[in-house]
Amino acid sequence: MAYQTVRGTYDILNDDYLKFRYVNDLFEHFMKLYGYDFIKTPVIEDTRVFKKDNDTSDMVTKEMFTFSINGKDSLTLRPEGTAGVIRSYIQHKLYGAEAPVKLAYIEEMFRYERPQKGRQRQFTQLGVEVLGDKAPLLDAEVIAMGYYFLKTLGIKDMEVHVNTLGDSTSRQRYLEALKAYFRPYSDLLCADCKQRLEKNPLRILDCKIDRDQPFMREVPAIYDYLDEDADNYFKKVLSYLDALEIPYVIDSRMVRGLDYYTDTVFEVVSTALGANSQSTIFGGGRYDDLVSELGGPAVSGIGFAIGEERLIGAMEEAGLFGDLKGHPDVYIIDLTEGDPYVLKVAELLRNNSFSTLINYYKRSLRAQFKSVDRHEPYLTFIIGEDEVQNKVVNIKDNKTKEQTTVAFDDLIDHLDNILGGNEDE
Ligand code: HAM
Repeated sequence: MAYQTVRGTYDILNDDYLKFRYVNDLFEHFMKLYGYDFIKTPVIEDTRVFKKDNDTSDMVTKEMFTFSINGKDSLTLRPEGTAGVIRSYIQHKLYGAEAPVKLAYIEEMFRYERPQKGRQRQFTQLGVEVLGDKAPLLDAEVIAMGYYFLKTLGIKDMEVHVNTLGDSTSRQRYLEALKAYFRPYSDLLCADCKQRLEKNPLRILDCKIDRDQPFMREVPAIYDYLDEDADNYFKKVLSYLDALEIPYVIDSRMVRGLDYYTDTVFEVVSTALGANSQSTIFGGGRYDDLVSELGGPAVSGIGFAIGEERLIGAMEEAGLFGDLKGHPDVYIIDLTEGDPYVLKVAELLRNNSFSTLINYYKRSLRAQFKSVDRHEPYLTFIIGEDEVQNKVVNIKDNKTKEQTTVAFDDLIDHLDNILGGNEDE
């Protein structure tokens, strides 16, 4: 029987790998520009890192890969990056350093979701968490950084949605108002929302089943329940986005799919990916209580995560990937049947940063030239018995079609002269 990848997982092959590398390279560059350190945390964590007693999010209640090895410890494949990063921040007392601590990650996440386009069971997130500071300027910078990152990649058709969930007193007032609003409609709510009504009515706002019910149109918005501080905080964040001329939509129904958010929340939707929930390229927000809930100091944090597969999908849709593979500098045609001189030449080139392919076994000149056609190197080297004897190489420039013979000792100078300006070296 031929084995297949597990449902909802995939192999990354050929040029697709280069697409991930291209995006990761720019992300790493951005993280350097904004002063972030990278962090790697384990794929498996104690389940309690993600799961609290009164969780209501689908991710925690329905989608986690949770298992136990010896019947005692409950372990979970991380469904998201924030909680593990905070666990690490607390474990290693990173809060002892000057605030804020700014951390970035590129990691695989696991959620037991129904696989479809843009929704896998294993996927990659490019994420950031900024821990220890709370200021509107920081919130605006985090949103701007994500926006500029997507813009630099060439994404044009995107919408930034922002909202606030208020501080804890404002939110408490709002939750009570939502309960009072939804109670008369409780018979009309879906089974999940009936539960959500008393536990966390915010979740009803982004329920995919009840979204289009007529009573959803009149739902109270949080803005009437914000106290002065929370209201000013949100307005200040928006004023910074205005100053940077970042276009955004204020979206009163956007509550995010995880329970830990407070104050500023945001999502970026790619309109090129269509109007479904898989078009959200990234989401994030502030969390005032998560660090202390996980046993750390009472500090706030903010972050976001970009779904890398969705981002790459949007880039493919917009034709934003050029020739990522490039061409090798040199292909060595070997007519000697494997003389060590061929390997010596190849290693000399690679040691001097010229990418080099060689022929590994006896093949006709014609077959080897076919490989040259396939790989399209800048130069073709031809090494036969004469070249081995005389310690030279016959070089064909595939652009000018000129052929020259160059001594082994002069090879690097020669290549520096003719290939020195290749961009993809
Ligand atoms: P999230 O909204 O659950 O947030 O996920 C962030 C992004 O990950 C989504 O916008 C989407 O692009 C991608 N994503 C989520 N699930 C899948 C899936 N099954 N298949 C493919 N892509 C997916 C978080 O995870 C938070 N930890 C973000 C955050 C960081 N908030 C604060 N700091």
